[in-house]
Amino acid sequence: MTENQPIKLTTMTTKGGCGCKIGPTDLASVMRDLPPKETDPNVLVGLDTGDDAGVYKLNKDTAIVQTTDFFTPIVNDPYDFGQVAVANAVSDVYAMGGTPITALNIVAFPISILDKDILSEILRGAGDKKKEAGISLVGGHSIDDPEPKFGLAVTGTIHPDNVWTNTGAQPGDKLILTKPIGVGIMSSSIKNNLLNDDEIKQVTDVMTTLNKTASETLHDYHVHASTDVTGFGLLGHASEMAAGSDVGLTIDAASVPVLPRAKELAQQGSVPGGTKNNHEHLLDTVTYPDDMDEISQFILCDAVTSGGLLVSVPADEADQVMSSLKEKGVQAAQIGEVTAENNGGVTVQ
Ligand code: CO
Ligand code: CO
Repeated sequence: MTENQPIKLTTMTTKGGCGCKIGPTDLASVMRDLPPKETDPNVLVGLDTGDDAGVYKLNKDTAIVQTTDFFTPIVNDPYDFGQVAVANAVSDVYAMGGTPITALNIVAFPISILDKDILSEILRGAGDKKKEAGISLVGGHSIDDPEPKFGLAVTGTIHPDNVWTNTGAQPGDKLILTKPIGVGIMSSSIKNNLLNDDEIKQVTDVMTTLNKTASETLHDYHVHASTDVTGFGLLGHASEMAAGSDVGLTIDAASVPVLPRAKELAQQGSVPGGTKNNHEHLLDTVTYPDDMDEISQFILCDAVTSGGLLVSVPADEADQVMSSLKEKGVQAAQIGEVTAENNGGVTVQ
C-alpha cells in the first residue's frame, strides 16, 4: 500500500458480515447456552427462541425491545457504512413489531492509522439514518482498535400484547420477504474489487434501506410470525421460524428476489465462508429439489447484512399485504407458504 493510496475500509478486516443475536456458529451456541436461564416473568422474549431482540415488559401497556449489532466495514464508503450499521441494528426492533426510540453508538477505530475524518463520516451516515428512523442518540462507547468496527445498541417500545415473534406461523399462512437476497455474495465482492459503481450502489441501497416502512405497513395486518433475514441467511431464518412455530415452511425458489449479479459472482467463486457454513449447517433441515445446483442453494443460504423482513401472514390477507407494501415502495415478494407437515423443516421448490 503506497502513501498516496487511500486505505479501503473493507481491506482492514479479517472477517465481514453480521450475525444476529443468534446465528449458526459455535460462538452463537456458546452465547445461547449462557447460564443462568432467565426466570423473570417480565422477560417476554429472551434467548431461548433465537428471536431477533429481547422484549421486557415494564407495565401492562409498555414493553421495551432491546438489541445490538456491530461489525467490521462491509462497504468502503464510510458514510454508507454508518448508514448500513444503523439500518442493520435497528432492523431487529422492526422485526419484532416495535418502534425504535433510542440508540447507543459502539465504536472501535484505529485512530493512529486511519484519518479521523473517516470516523466522522461513519458517524454522519449513522446520524442521518437515525434521523430517518426517528431515533435519538443518547450515548455510546469507543475504543482504539486496529480493526474498525461500528454498530449500535437500540431500544424500542412495543405493546406487550402485540409482540411479533418467529414462533407464531400457522399452517396455511403465506410467507412474504421485503428485500432481495444475495447481499452477502455481493458485499464480499466489494471487498474483492469485483463490482462496478452501479453494482456497489445497488447492494448498498438494499443494506441502507430501513425496514421501518415494511414494519409500519404490516401493523395494519395480522402478522403471525416475523423475523429479519441476516447472518443466518433466508433459509436459516426460515428454519428457525419453522422450528419455533412447529410448522413446515415451503419456499418457492423462483419467487425469491435475488440481486442481479449474485448468481454469476457465486458461480465465479464469490461465496462467503459464512454462506457456505449456513448451507452446511442446514443440510438436515432443508430439502432442495433434486435438480437444484449447489450455487442456487448457496444463494438461498447467503449470509445477509441488513436484509428484509420475513413474515408469515394469513392467506386471505396476503394479496392485500403485498399491494400495500408495493404501494409504499417496499420491494416485497410472496415467496412461499406454511404447512402442517414437515414440522421444523423447510422445503425448497
Ligand atoms: Co441482529
Ligand atoms: Co434479526
